[in-house]
Amino acid sequence: MSEEKLDSLLHLGTIIKPPEEFVRNANVKNYEEEYKKFLDNPEEFWAKVADELFWYEKWDKVLEWNLPYAKWFVNGKTNITVNALDRHVKNGRKNKVAFFWEDEFGNEKVVTYGSLYTLVNKLANALKNAGIKKGDRVVIYMPLVVEQVAAMLACARIGAVHSVVYAGFSVPALRHRIEDAQAKMVITADMTIRRGRAIPLKQIVDEAVRGLDNVEKVVVLRRLKPKVDLIGEKEIDFYEFIKDADTYCEPEVMDSEDPLFMLYTSGSTGKPKGVIHTTGGYMVGTYYSMKTVFDLKEDDIYWCTADPGWITGHSYIVYGPLVAGATQVLAEGAPNYPDFGRWWSLIEKYGVTIFYTAPTAIRMFMRAGEHWPEKYDLSSLRLLGSVGEPINPEAWMWYFRVIGKERCPIVDTWWQTETGAVMITTIDGLPMKPGRAGKPVPGVVADVVDKEGNPVEPNKGGFLVVRNPWPSMMRTIHKNKEKYESYWNTIPGCYFAGDVATKDEDGYIMILGRADDVINVSGHRIGTMEVESALVSHPSVAEAAVIGKPDPVKGERIKAFVILKEGESPSEELVNSLKKHVRTELGALAVPSEIEFVDKLPKTRSGKIMRRVLKAKELGMDPGDLSTLED
Ligand code: WTA
Repeated sequence: MSEEKLDSLLHLGTIIKPPEEFVRNANVKNYEEEYKKFLDNPEEFWAKVADELFWYEKWDKVLEWNLPYAKWFVNGKTNITVNALDRHVKNGRKNKVAFFWEDEFGNEKVVTYGSLYTLVNKLANALKNAGIKKGDRVVIYMPLVVEQVAAMLACARIGAVHSVVYAGFSVPALRHRIEDAQAKMVITADMTIRRGRAIPLKQIVDEAVRGLDNVEKVVVLRRLKPKVDLIGEKEIDFYEFIKDADTYCEPEVMDSEDPLFMLYTSGSTGKPKGVIHTTGGYMVGTYYSMKTVFDLKEDDIYWCTADPGWITGHSYIVYGPLVAGATQVLAEGAPNYPDFGRWWSLIEKYGVTIFYTAPTAIRMFMRAGEHWPEKYDLSSLRLLGSVGEPINPEAWMWYFRVIGKERCPIVDTWWQTETGAVMITTIDGLPMKPGRAGKPVPGVVADVVDKEGNPVEPNKGGFLVVRNPWPSMMRTIHKNKEKYESYWNTIPGCYFAGDVATKDEDGYIMILGRADDVINVSGHRIGTMEVESALVSHPSVAEAAVIGKPDPVKGERIKAFVILKEGESPSEELVNSLKKHVRTELGALAVPSEIEFVDKLPKTRSGKIMRRVLKAKELGMDPGDLSTLED
């Protein structure tokens, strides 16, 4: 057994108690009590949370559940931006900082709740003036700037449904999302900054919207000097667009179940799916987790390093923290540019108290060495978070020791685009077990089960499921009811998350990885089928199969097996050409790090590629049942 593996097993038995002082001051001091409150009366439990927020009209009923369809806070009327902005501006937080923003060059912006409120209101009015109405879809393809957050909120203000596309996706990926949603408008920027370079975005949008009649307007935030040209009548400058708009926009009165946004995520088959979240339940769920999982208090300086292009940014940069009135750090650019001290210097500079990031980043910093964080004063930190992929015990211990100085609890938060909010972790006061996410948060009944839904014995592998509806759950998949229903009917009566997991004697859940053909690269979900289709669309490729392989930093990396067309021969050049092709088709995230040319792929008799066999062979493991293999 390798030393690394041994170390991992040793750490798996470790139990770490959160510091007493932390527990004494925590918003939730006793997990078991809080969980019991939920179990005793789930509806009362959620009604109490919802009561802390503003509603035009209260709900008639907390939950209406017709498996697999849920309605939360039935007939309640609200607007999430009133809770995220108006409520604070009117209650003494007008001059409270909402965002400390900065880019890689040290350009800074301090945005208060008051100024964010004005920006959002003006933009909302401009959207209205441009003919955007409640229910219309708006695609947002922007860098990590305050205007991106404002664009999302402006949509929510008027009831338009935003679909944010991460600014690392390429033309076809963006085009698919614009087309699938029949978006009326795209809000973008000229560029994003990464490693000291401006990466153009607008060209990508120009190509992606070409010939799409549904797009009536493209709003462009222009940051470069001299300013990039705007082409045609559809395009307008962001600040020009809002210049004459009124500073107050009456919020649209939204039903609890009116859609708030859609967000695409990869599955095991076909193109990415548009997950739909609605207003009331999502608002209550994300707000509750800000207060409990992240223990947010009035004076905290909170920093989530995600991008609003992912669900983590939606729930834990935009909606959760703003509804809870947090002050946040927002940093555009790479974590290690100009050097590996960047993030730690920002923690020192702004006095960050709560820090939320991904295991990939932690492992990258681990490799760079402790001397980087040691140069900075990290004593302001009091709570650390992790999300997106399993965190291995070594990385957990490093994060705990080097960043948190053994003072800060770590919340390893398991959740998904579909769940909307954190589902499993160790909330305030619960002892932590490095490598195990923890227990279901109050409001969630999670379990590890077999195919029939029976709980498996402790420490045995099984499928991770949720047995009950929860407020921030997705309500459907855009134009794909069957797909939505499949989450709830694969394992009878349960929500099947698509992950495999184990649970120990104390009920601590450890996520082992995906059960389906989704690869998790640096915390980003990539469908094997998407990469395979991209490869097959290359003129030299006949067939392709893609698997995920363990990677010490990224968690998983992509390996592709490719059969070339007659007359083509393998070469270094061809490998590069294939990688470039995937980058153009899908984006940098999906580029395989390894490509192997083969003559044959293992298939079932019905012609389906058996990726599991490829993977087992690659990793030197037992391929399991081969009875369906063709030959
Ligand atoms: C994985 C991100 C282990 C998991 C919020 C899940 C995790 C998928 C964790 C969702 C964690 C997320 N430990 N695995 N703490 N958090 N995952 O939709 O496989 O981008 O199904 O949501 O990431 O990814 P998504």
